[in-house]
Amino acid sequence: MEQIVINGVNQLSGEVEIEGAKNAVLPILASTILASSGITTLDNVPPLSDVFIMNKVLEEFNIKIEFNQVQKTISVDASGELTSIAPKELVEKMRASIVVLGPLVARLGHAKVAMPGGCAIGSRPIDLHLKGLEKLGVKIDQHDGFIEATADQLHGADIYLDFPSVGATQNIMMAATLAKGNTVIENVAREPEIVDLANVLNKMGAKITGAGTDSLKIKGVDQLHGCDHSVVQDRIEAGTYMIAAAVSNGNVLIKDAIYEHNRPLLSKLAEMGVKVNVSDDGVRIIGPKVLAPADVQTLPHPGFPTDMQAQMTVAQLKADGISTMNETVFENRFMHLDELNKMGASYKVEGNFATLMGPTDFQGAEVSATDLRAAAALVIAGLIAKGETRVSHLEYMDRGYYHLVSKFKQLGANIKRVRIDAAGRETLVTDDQVISEESLA
Ligand code: EPU
Repeated sequence: MEQIVINGVNQLSGEVEIEGAKNAVLPILASTILASSGITTLDNVPPLSDVFIMNKVLEEFNIKIEFNQVQKTISVDASGELTSIAPKELVEKMRASIVVLGPLVARLGHAKVAMPGGCAIGSRPIDLHLKGLEKLGVKIDQHDGFIEATADQLHGADIYLDFPSVGATQNIMMAATLAKGNTVIENVAREPEIVDLANVLNKMGAKITGAGTDSLKIKGVDQLHGCDHSVVQDRIEAGTYMIAAAVSNGNVLIKDAIYEHNRPLLSKLAEMGVKVNVSDDGVRIIGPKVLAPADVQTLPHPGFPTDMQAQMTVAQLKADGISTMNETVFENRFMHLDELNKMGASYKVEGNFATLMGPTDFQGAEVSATDLRAAAALVIAGLIAKGETRVSHLEYMDRGYYHLVSKFKQLGANIKRVRIDAAGRETLVTDDQVISEESLA
């Protein structure tokens, strides 16, 4: 078993560098399936467990991958004869692998992808992905735990998404690039990761306009080719360090952070009394001695991101007064509150609405991560807790935070990662020793 061990109370200061976005690189890797000629070279790729899993999924289809983890570059050659079956073992490890469905059926006319189940944060259906693909002329058959998609030739269509799902937007947009004729998709997701994917597809020869708005227009083309691309910065990793600085009365420069991508978070932090200085170097966060309470509601972009919800609740619990959090995107994303309770937090949850009773005098405790962002929230709480905090289930952390321990150490935190053997002996694990090839869906 591995744990992150933090001794508080820490006040963060210094600078932190942010990786390329996990949630951008996963669909971009899936999009390389569409490039029937040439090689795609990606730069700024974070060496995270989810990226390793997506690479394995692509290798199943006979795609050649070279990942240079030191340079953080991946080169992908999908020009050979591809196969079209994504096995259960891999899809089970990472539900985001469902975004291979659209590109596979568009390129090969066939795809068989294991049905991704729900996960800790919600039931996570994929009905919108499937309805959109059907509109493009794909026949969907669900049997034996698999989704089988077939099509002779995809055709353009007018599609309206009932909800601006990130994954559905990505799957349908990728499939429509090779459809005959024009496709319009309305009420699409507007996240920066969608824009990054559209940029890659256009570099591959696709004709997509409207990315970043609520309507995408796609003119189908006959084929796509490889391209070079540098992955957009991870706004959620950046936001995580912003909150850590804010709650620790810290002073931290988040290098090259893109203000616009974190606007909803930064505006809430400012409301709570945090100083936000934007410059050419990035965004500097200066946390106040006492945070003011705030009411927050998660929404699709450009609303407050659900992926910052758990971390934000730590700031709200620390704040001097009562705050509320309304989680409208996922139905079950408050598990971290039970763990924070072990550290002294007091709260009430009714459905998707949490009332958070600040101010909390956080105390160190043994806590378990329940999903990726919960893991980040527990580390942030540990940083400002008195005494020792131990966070376990780091496999969640490793899905989305590269070199988290060294980054917090560099900001002055008393933090380490240890491995504990059966006899209870502890050995230190450096970030470079973390082998992040296993993951949970
Ligand atoms: N939904 C449906 N039907 C669908 C698709 C989605 O009902 O066909 C519902 C979901 O059940 C959920 C909501 O719509 O309640 C939002 O789901 P969405 O499809 O937008 O999310 P996703 O594509 O599955 C991505 C990120 C998540 C992030 C969400 C929302 C990736 C790989 N994952 O998931 O990231 O929370 O968008 O922004 O891009 C994380 O990084 O910690 C993470 C969970």
